[in-house]
Amino acid sequence: MIRLTGLALSLLCVAASACQPTLGECATGEGAGEDREVVFLVNGSPEDGTPLYAGQALQQRSCGNSGFCHSQAATGNGRRGAPAGLDFDVFPACTDEASCDTAIEGPLERLRESQRQTYDHRYDIWRTIEDGSMPPGAAGESVLADDVYYRDFDPDTGTFSNPLPGLDTAEGRRIYRNWLACGAPVVEQAREAAAGERPGGSCASVMGTVGDCRVRAGRIEPPDPNWPSIFARIVEPLCVECHRDDGNPFFGPSDQQLDLCRSTPADSGPCDPAAVHAALVGQAAEGCGGTLVAPGDPDASVFLDKMGASPGCGDPMPLGDDDGLAPELLAPIRQWIQDGASL
Ligand code: HEC
Repeated sequence: MIRLTGLALSLLCVAASACQPTLGECATGEGAGEDREVVFLVNGSPEDGTPLYAGQALQQRSCGNSGFCHSQAATGNGRRGAPAGLDFDVFPACTDEASCDTAIEGPLERLRESQRQTYDHRYDIWRTIEDGSMPPGAAGESVLADDVYYRDFDPDTGTFSNPLPGLDTAEGRRIYRNWLACGAPVVEQAREAAAGERPGGSCASVMGTVGDCRVRAGRIEPPDPNWPSIFARIVEPLCVECHRDDGNPFFGPSDQQLDLCRSTPADSGPCDPAAVHAALVGQAAEGCGGTLVAPGDPDASVFLDKMGASPGCGDPMPLGDDDGLAPELLAPIRQWIQDGASL
């Protein structure tokens, strides 16, 4: 609550215009601190591969994520004290051809309004980020960061890599500051790639109303029924983020401490696929009970059950995606376990 009061104070501060903080220059272009670097959402849903600008993604993930606090969709307690009308929900208005052509008006209005709010409040917003009062640690922890945005996509293998750092890092704050200073440009629409279009590039023939149109990255391709493929397509991009002991808020004494990487807080490099395999196969699920991966017995494998829509224990994984993973992604994992879950 004290932290939320911080925002109210900032607003007073601006009303009095006595203490305008500096946001600095807008740097554009590659290397200069790109304001339009494209990142791709990955959360195991049909929206996978949706492009956003990096600053847009940071705001989306940290301020409301279409569901809490500064989101138009949040009302009453869901706002957790965020003032009514102060909406910063900047997810693209549509994510594929069908929704862009038929159902864009309402979402576009939401995007337009949130972008305006962001621009009007850019100094307060930056102040609260800089002084650490936003995003509010305690109140926000339970809802933050359940979507991951990746900076790179390899169309040949269909894999995402290089996660976008959060606002709790200097790099994340640098990106976000520059995005605010550049006027908070947004990706308004996302379209499937046409022949010759590259993921993240501009859509050839679409003019946006409040922002740009960018080409989606491919959706997650179902893995092959073997560990290297399952690791690369599913576990590394969708699970490792939370299931390693690197100080992320989802890995704590109150949660099941499934450390897939067997890492220490100091480790930040990629996880070793063999170590993750060893952490799963034949190991006990400490929180849920039972076995994580029981070779030859998919129905007794908590790892598989947790990725379905109605797991026997806790929430569907990856956390934040209420429906679990699509059946076509789960089928090869089931097959792999059935076949003995080898490395
Ligand atoms: C946003 C963070 C987050 C992501 C991403 C995530 N998890 Fe989890 N996971 C949690 C939390 C928190 C719990 C404990 C609460 C629960 O079980 O619902 C958990 C619990 C689990 C458990 C139970 C562990 C036990 O010891 O009982 C399994 C298995 C699991 N997750 C697998 C996965 C897999 C597989 C993925 C990727 C497809 C994944 N998780 C992605 C946060 C996450």
